[in-house]
Order: sequence, then structure tokens, then C-alpha cells
Amino acid sequence: MTLGVAVIGAGMAGRAHASAYRVAPTLYASTLPDLRYVSIGDLSPELGAEAAKRFGYERSDTDWRAIAENPDIDVVSVVVANFLHREMVEGLVAAGKHVLCEKPLSDSLDDARAMADLARGADTVVRVGFTFRRAPGVAMLRQLVNDGTLGNVQHVDVRYYCDYAADPSGPISWRFKGGPGTGALADVGSHAAYLAEFVAGDISEVSGGRFTTAIKERPVALGVVQRVGKVEVSDQREPVENDDYASFSAQFASGVGVVEVSRVAAGHPNGLVIEVYGDKGAAVWDLERAGEFQLVLNSDPSAIRGFRRVVLGPEAPYFGGGLAMDAQGVGVGQNEGFNFQARAFLEEVAGLDESASLPRCATFDEGVHNMEILAAVAESAAHGGAGVAVPPARTS
Ligand SMILES: NC(=O)c1ccc[n+]([C@@H]2O[C@H](COP(=O)([O-])OP(=O)(O)OC[C@H]3O[C@@H](n4cnc5c(N)ncnc54)[C@H](O)[C@@H]3O)[C@@H](O)[C@H]2O)c1
Repeated sequence: MTLGVAVIGAGMAGRAHASAYRVAPTLYASTLPDLRYVSIGDLSPELGAEAAKRFGYERSDTDWRAIAENPDIDVVSVVVANFLHREMVEGLVAAGKHVLCEKPLSDSLDDARAMADLARGADTVVRVGFTFRRAPGVAMLRQLVNDGTLGNVQHVDVRYYCDYAADPSGPISWRFKGGPGTGALADVGSHAAYLAEFVAGDISEVSGGRFTTAIKERPVALGVVQRVGKVEVSDQREPVENDDYASFSAQFASGVGVVEVSRVAAGHPNGLVIEVYGDKGAAVWDLERAGEFQLVLNSDPSAIRGFRRVVLGPEAPYFGGGLAMDAQGVGVGQNEGFNFQARAFLEEVAGLDESASLPRCATFDEGVHNMEILAAVAESAAHGGAGVAVPPARTS
């Protein structure tokens, strides 16, 4: 069997998917079928062609429908603006493709629910990528909660501070359009909410929802805007419609939490930090030091009790055999998460048994649940921070 691969979107995350499919077969034992790297899709012919050349794909396409119609392609990542996800996913599933869609599932909860209905009935594997669960340090925090090392979770803090929108002369793009909660909350808060649940269990209620838009308008670009990279701008300006900053409190079955996200946090290019406090100890993971985590255990002698730095090694999830050099201390970063995610997705597509695979990628029902948390935060914010119940994730 040979699986033909394509990626739609040659932006920051699209390039990470394109690269990850190349790396995926080199992780762990050689159990994946042969892969054929067929196409990169991007509206911009230059960006598509450049990414195809760089990552060794045979061609590029400017219209995603060419990818849907191409019989050589089996597996497609959808890595474009959130408002484009539904149309592409529907077209690709109808064409019989396996689809890995980027988070958040969509820019609208109604669209996300329709996508989940479709995914449930699909004959192909249809999943959503929440990359950070694949970070060995994050998976380690979850393990320390699940194996009881940290005891009962008392509170959790997830902070995702970015500065990609801190410069007011940065151009308007799809990221700045949409209703309350479609800004920083959807962009990086979707990760933060997912990770809060990943380490501490399901959120049943949110409260204290709060948004601010710090920069009210931005210039219109003269070329294609991607999240990274400079582009010339015109004199024309457009309003920023959504949140630059968002925060909320969360109620878990065990404990409470706070999630705080920003895209205008000067000095924090990519500042994701997860802190989990239990009744037996605490652990902290910081994306800027992704190859380590901090741990304190209450059982340590009081004279030397304090946070210790644990440098990740082959005993951490994903690490051993999953990195070309997998000795303690070699370090990991965000890109590896995409590699493990691509591997997990391809293992499921190839029909490899779950017991011999990486944990499966999240279902679209989980993607809907994630968006229901974000919608509850928006409702809370609209009602002065009132408590809003979050429906449990659908499991079948
Ligand atoms: N998992 C992660 O860590 C992570 C990180 C960043 C972004 N994302 C997600 O990935 C998606 C894309 O984000 P990004 O930062 O790469 O965006 P981006 O703006 O950098 O790039 C998007 C690309 O899509 C192209 N495009 C626009 N319309 C298109 C169309 N109709 N057909 C084909 N291509 C089209 C653009 O030319 C651009 O190159 C979003 O859903 C985002 O939430 C995930």
C-alpha cells in the first residue's frame, strides 16, 4: 500500500504539516506504509510551489478541489484560516480522503457541529490536530496526574501569551475578523482550553469570561498575509473585530483553573505555560523550555522541598525511539509535536492497531467540545462574567 499525501495551506502551520509527513515514517519502528508526497495547496502559486519544492512534494495546486479530485491523494491536512475548514473538509470527505483538520475546527460552532456529524458517518479517518498534547513534557504532566503522583488536582493555570499582534502596524488578516472569542481565544485559547482538560479532566463550567481588543484597527496588506513574515501595507485601515486578550475561570470535576491568552503580550513570542497543583505536589511546563519541566513533591524532606528541574529523556512519553537522537537532554520543541501528530494520524489511516500506535488524534466531537468551551467563555463575557455550563463531550 502507498498513501498519497497532500497539505492545503502553505502558511506557518501548513509548512509544519508538510514537514511532519516527511518525518513521520522515520519515528519509531518502520510500520507505516510507503508515502508519496503529492501536493501542497495554496491560493498563492508562489507560496505553494516554494513549499512543495522545499518539502519534496511533487506539485502544488492553487485550488483545493484539484487535491480533492486527485486519485493519487489519500491523506490531506487542512491548514488554512478557520472559516475555510468546513467547505474543504466536506469536499475532501465526499471525495473519500482521510482528513486531518487544524484547530479550532471552525470559526462557528454551527459549522463545527455539522462537520462532526459528517465525520461520525465518514468511511475515512477524520481528525482534528491539537498538537501540544504531543509535547513530551505536556504528556508527562498528564501522566503525573493520572498515576496519582500529584494527588488530587486542586488548581490548574494555562497561560498562552503571544506577541504576533503586538505591533499596531501589523496588517489585518483572517485572524482579526469575527465575533467575540474568534480572536486570541480561538487562535491560542483553543490550545489552552484543550490542554487544561488534557491535564486536569473535563471542564463543566466556565465563568469570569473577559475580552479586550487593545488595537482597534490595522492596515490592509498589499500582498498575502501569513502569521509569520513581513508584508507591505497600504494606507487603508480596517477594524479589528475580535479579542486581542481573553481570560476565564474553569471548573473541573476535581479543582478549578484559570486560562489566560493574549496575542499582544510584548516579549512573549510563543509563551505557553501549564501549571498543575495537586494535594501531593505540583508540576510546571513551559514551551520556551519544552525539553524539561519543574516538579515539587510534598513528600520531599521539608528542608530541601522546592521545585526541581527534570530534564526530559527517553522515559518521557513520545521521547524514547520517537526522536532520532533520544538521549536525555537532547531537547524538543513545537515542531516535534507536528511529527508525532502526523505519525499518529497515519497509523490510524494505515489501520495499525491502537495498542501498537501513538494515542489517536482527537475526534471532531472533541473539536466541537473545545469550541463549546470557547462559546461558553463568550457567553460568560457577554453576561458580566456569569457562570456558563459546558456540555460534556460527546463520546459516540
Ligand atoms: N497546531 C498549531 O500549533 C497551529 C499553529 C498555527 C496555526 N494553526 C492553525 O492552522 C491554520 C492555519 O494557520 P496559519 O498560521 O498557518 O495561517 P497563515 O495565515 O500563516 O497561512 C494560511 C495559508 O493559507 C493560504 N490560503 C488562503 N486561502 C486559501 C485557499 N482558499 N486555499 C488554499 N490556501 C489558502 C494562504 O495563502 C496562506 O499561505 C489555522 O486553523 C490555525 O488555527 C495551528
